[in-house]
Amino acid sequence: MNLLVTGGCGFIGANFVHEQRRQYPQDRLVVLDALTYCGNLRNLESLSSDPGVAFVRGDICDADRVAQLLRDDHMDAIVHFAAESHVDRSILGPLPFVQTNVVGTTVLLEAARKAQVQRFLHVSTDEVYGTLGPTDPPFTEETPLAPRSPYAASKAASDHLALAYAHTYGLPVVVTRCSNNYGPFQFPEKLLPLMILSALADQPLPVYGDGQQVRDWIYVEDHCRGIDAALRRGRPGAVYNFGGRAERTNLEMVHAILELVGKPRSLIRFVADRLGHDRRYAVECSRAEHELDWHARWSLDDGLRETVRWYREHPSWCQSVQSGEYRTFYDRNYTTRLAESTEVAQCG
Ligand SMILES: NC(=O)c1ccc[n+]([C@@H]2O[C@H](COP(=O)([O-])OP(=O)(O)OC[C@H]3O[C@@H](n4cnc5c(N)ncnc54)[C@H](O)[C@@H]3O)[C@@H](O)[C@H]2O)c1
Repeated sequence: MNLLVTGGCGFIGANFVHEQRRQYPQDRLVVLDALTYCGNLRNLESLSSDPGVAFVRGDICDADRVAQLLRDDHMDAIVHFAAESHVDRSILGPLPFVQTNVVGTTVLLEAARKAQVQRFLHVSTDEVYGTLGPTDPPFTEETPLAPRSPYAASKAASDHLALAYAHTYGLPVVVTRCSNNYGPFQFPEKLLPLMILSALADQPLPVYGDGQQVRDWIYVEDHCRGIDAALRRGRPGAVYNFGGRAERTNLEMVHAILELVGKPRSLIRFVADRLGHDRRYAVECSRAEHELDWHARWSLDDGLRETVRWYREHPSWCQSVQSGEYRTFYDRNYTTRLAESTEVAQCG
């Protein structure tokens, strides 16, 4: 297969690209990424000499660029991760979320329709379902969408558009909705890497509100295997939920990290809560288990241990992200080649 992977330099996209290379070395991947503040080409650095992976810096809102890539590189399928993904940033400024998540996704869908790609895998989130009370049953794929943050609203809009393209035009779209991911390469504005890096550095750990917000945590590798299963075996027009069946409060997660890192709970600082903070998410993922034969393999304990180990063992990645040095990586490695108009280059 020839796969176009949007947002492949972000957290989940990069994990997906690595996983695909391990599983399907015969496939060819083109990564399209705008390298926004959270896009990090270093996440794909170890694939720099892999002839099966190419990188293109570009915006999914650029219709001509997307159409050209689908045409010239003969893409069979699109796996669409690219998004503005941080709820706090969406509260501060929703417009980029509408631009990338809604307009950008529609640009991709339209290009995919015209190029007649065989599969469009749209990566979405359980946040589109809204929030749950403490005793409510988990979200199923039939739960009505009720997003409550600008981020979730923009993702819900993109889900509706993706499914509308399946219904109206017969585009073979599959939508996946996953719970909170954790693992390697996550940008440290998100809860887990922020807490791990703060704890490692003996810095205060800021926890929103009372820390009792419940999330269902899934190790990123399990999510990537789910996306792969939905890509290759999912029903066109279907939605699949993925989750880790591991509901924990944010405070429980922070306590677990402090224990793994060996630091005291006195580092915790409770700070003013996020506006409109959803209290609980939980997903029912039995459809994916039955139809796709997908099962989460990682327990929360093992996944957290592995994640803390990864951040400990990659101080240079952590330091380049924290200092902002990672943002110069592309220019240092690509400027010459781009000047020579070799716009599709190897990663690294
Ligand atoms: N992180 C989670 O826990 C989680 C859970 C469920 C679903 N998701 C979804 O998974 C996808 C990936 O999430 P993530 O956490 O890896 O995000 P991320 O913020 O780490 O990465 C997003 C990537 O998209 C790229 N990008 C942003 N705007 C772009 C544009 N206009 N054109 C091209 N590239 C662009 C960025 O440069 C970055 O590489 C998102 O669609 C998100 O909604 C995330």
